[in-house]
Amino acid sequence: MGRRISMGAMGLAIALPLAMLGCIKKESVDPQASAAETTPPPLREAASRAKRHVGVALATWHFGEGRYAQVAGRTFDSLTPENEMKWDSTEPRPGSFDFTAGDSLVAFAVENGMRVRGHTLVWHQQLPTWASGLSGDGLHAAMIRHVQGVAGHFKGKIAQWDVVNEAIAEGPSGELRGDSPFSGLGPTYIDDAFRAAREADPHAMLFYNDYDIEAAGSPKSEAAFHLLERLKQAGVPVDGVGFQMHVDPRHWPSASEIQHNMERYAALGLAVEITEMDVPVGEIAGTPAEKLQRQREITHDIVAACFAVEKCSGVTFWGLNDEYSWLSDPKWGRLRGRPPHLPLPLDPDYRPKPMYFGILDALQGR
Ligand code: XIL
Repeated sequence: MGRRISMGAMGLAIALPLAMLGCIKKESVDPQASAAETTPPPLREAASRAKRHVGVALATWHFGEGRYAQVAGRTFDSLTPENEMKWDSTEPRPGSFDFTAGDSLVAFAVENGMRVRGHTLVWHQQLPTWASGLSGDGLHAAMIRHVQGVAGHFKGKIAQWDVVNEAIAEGPSGELRGDSPFSGLGPTYIDDAFRAAREADPHAMLFYNDYDIEAAGSPKSEAAFHLLERLKQAGVPVDGVGFQMHVDPRHWPSASEIQHNMERYAALGLAVEITEMDVPVGEIAGTPAEKLQRQREITHDIVAACFAVEKCSGVTFWGLNDEYSWLSDPKWGRLRGRPPHLPLPLDPDYRPKPMYFGILDALQGR
């Protein structure tokens, strides 16, 4: 049996974070905000009115801290397991599955009326050693068994699966990535993974998810578009495309380029989502307050661009607060230049940053 993460009696005490937000001095939250913004409504309320989802990636290991669960449950209406549904967590040994951590996040989502985005079935990272050493028919068979086992276990509980994550190479080639064992199976491994996922959980929406495909034009982005076009034409059961949106303000497309790109996927009949958004500020010029203000604008404009597209059903942030961002780990943080990155809507004390109000504005059509 999976350990359930329960908010227990605390689940009812949803007034606490609001009170917590309300007692913060205006200056410490958002120098630009009006007085009305000092007690912000939870993002999920605004999202629900806009008929969209606003999500967060959660990690089981933070649930020991009381406020983590409480703030997550009241602020967001969609949950993505940050690591708990990846291959190394769910199938550590061949054919032997462990759903303990994933089950506990699903239980938490159910308790809090949150949608679950399953992440992720087929990816070249966080593979157990036994799987990364396979190739050819052995790897293909292991992939199908993995998709069937995981999607089958969570059947009926997952709104959207990231079936295949990050299949395409960076750089000019537009090919499948060279550092993935799955690429050796040829491009139809993607078709096979989606078909197996549909069979295992017919009601989940099935997504292709990737980074640096947010704007049209680059070889990687064009390759992603052509891949999705091909899958649709071949009748492969793919329902959506996820734009990770790990923003690097040093080189990032404009909101209008992002919207234009999302629209061409929507025209293929696909849903679009922002699946892993963060906006690191280390390389943004200016004082700390100016950095956070710029972060607010960037976030607002991108979220508004997504919601301007009818088929954009949700936006997910990759972590609950700045401290728990994956970019706090220098291993990943160095990809975004100078720290501190402070890339998320809540600060380490769970206080809403200017970025939070930017999201709220976008959800409210402002
Ligand atoms: C990251 C997690 O946040 C980290 O905890 C883990 O160490 C590495 O993976 N793209 C993805 C996510 O699709 O799964 C990654 O998550 C971040 C980049």
